[in-house]
Amino acid sequence: MKVLFLSPNYPLEMQDFTRGLAEVGADVVGIGDTPRDGLSPKVKSHLAGYLQVPLQNPEAVLTAVRATGVRFDRVECLWEPFVELAAWLRERLGVPGMTLDTARAFRDKELMKQRVEAAGLRVPHHTRANTREEVWAAAERFGFPLILKPIAGAGSADTFRVDDAKELEVALARTAHVPEVSVEEFVDGEEFTFDTVCIDGKPAYANIAQYHPRPLQARSNEWISPIVVTIRDMWAPAYKPGIELGLGVLRALNMGTGFTHMEWYKKANGEVVFGEIGARSAGGHLVDQMNWTGDIDLYREWARAVCWKSFEGDTRRKNNVAIIFKRARGQGRIQRIEGLERYLAKYGAHVVAEQLLRPGAQRRDWLQTLVSDGFVCVRHPDLSATLQMAQAAATDVTMYAE
Ligand SMILES: Nc1ncnc2c1ncn2[C@@H]1O[C@H](COP(=O)(O)OP(=O)(O)OP(=O)(O)O)[C@@H](O)[C@H]1O
Ligand SMILES: [Mg+2]
Repeated sequence: MKVLFLSPNYPLEMQDFTRGLAEVGADVVGIGDTPRDGLSPKVKSHLAGYLQVPLQNPEAVLTAVRATGVRFDRVECLWEPFVELAAWLRERLGVPGMTLDTARAFRDKELMKQRVEAAGLRVPHHTRANTREEVWAAAERFGFPLILKPIAGAGSADTFRVDDAKELEVALARTAHVPEVSVEEFVDGEEFTFDTVCIDGKPAYANIAQYHPRPLQARSNEWISPIVVTIRDMWAPAYKPGIELGLGVLRALNMGTGFTHMEWYKKANGEVVFGEIGARSAGGHLVDQMNWTGDIDLYREWARAVCWKSFEGDTRRKNNVAIIFKRARGQGRIQRIEGLERYLAKYGAHVVAEQLLRPGAQRRDWLQTLVSDGFVCVRHPDLSATLQMAQAAATDVTMYAE
């Protein structure tokens, strides 16, 4: 089993997916921008080969892959910007897996919504807009509030909630550099994920997580400590409409084998609405949370699914797992952390990871990275106990920068 794996070193979790591929018996050839010397020792130890090629240049990638003379059985990528490149390579190289047409619908948010809608599923009212006039026309049609966002976005960047005409002017100015935008009806409600590892379109593994608060709010207010919690009892009736929506979306988009990460909204009246989906794993440590939810290794089981169409992880769910991302007050270097000792003394038994930046470390850009200045991760079989511990980490642990 020869696997070409795009960007094995970055983002960080790709290193564990590389390990997973090697552990299920694949010969893994990595390809990416990172210089060979810059690869982490962990990645190096699991790679049979590595090609340093700029992934932004598809032709260069194709040439380099062909030059190896290796006949690859799989071409895989779990990093959003290059999921389409992987599909394009598969077609050029005659490798089985998701086609470019299918991959495009997991990336282009308009095409995605068109196909989901065509399957009779509820999506926000939406349209593609290339000019100011088109955006204004959409605003007249949908009314306020609405959402303005890039067609191929990530990390809520350049995504705006717009409540009136004045705000629309501001949002237009701030998205002036975005070539093409999606204009959507703003859907008020709670926000969840639906994550799967699929084999031939059927989830061998599924997960639901909830955002507290919704990502756009978390990204608009620095003082917030965003929380994401995996739901142990995801098969309870309350989540059923979301799961049915998710399964419908997988069918509508012709999902094959691999990871998916979907976001969906639940309105106060119970109606569920599709948000978006990627043919890749979730970022922000959600894969680790899923692993801690059931004491499994999805890095390896994803690899088993794509290589051998088999999944051996235990799908029983033992815990709710909450991650709390922290943002320091002030700028520059971290100076001190208050409340952490007390927190750990009280909840330490439930803490599965604590990776807050330590004094002396430079603050991260909270707008660029969801992980911000680090995180605490807790788990508990009871959801309200989990949320209570998560709230405590949000309010009682404070990081200060100079
Ligand atoms: N139609 C909508 N109604 C309400 N909120 C929305 C809508 N579209 C987007 N949002 C908010 O903006 C956030 C970012 O939008 P979206 O998920 O489409 O973009 P993204 O930048 O690709 O996200 P990600 O952070 O998952 O990469 C959503 O998580 C949600 O909180
Ligand atoms: Mg999103």
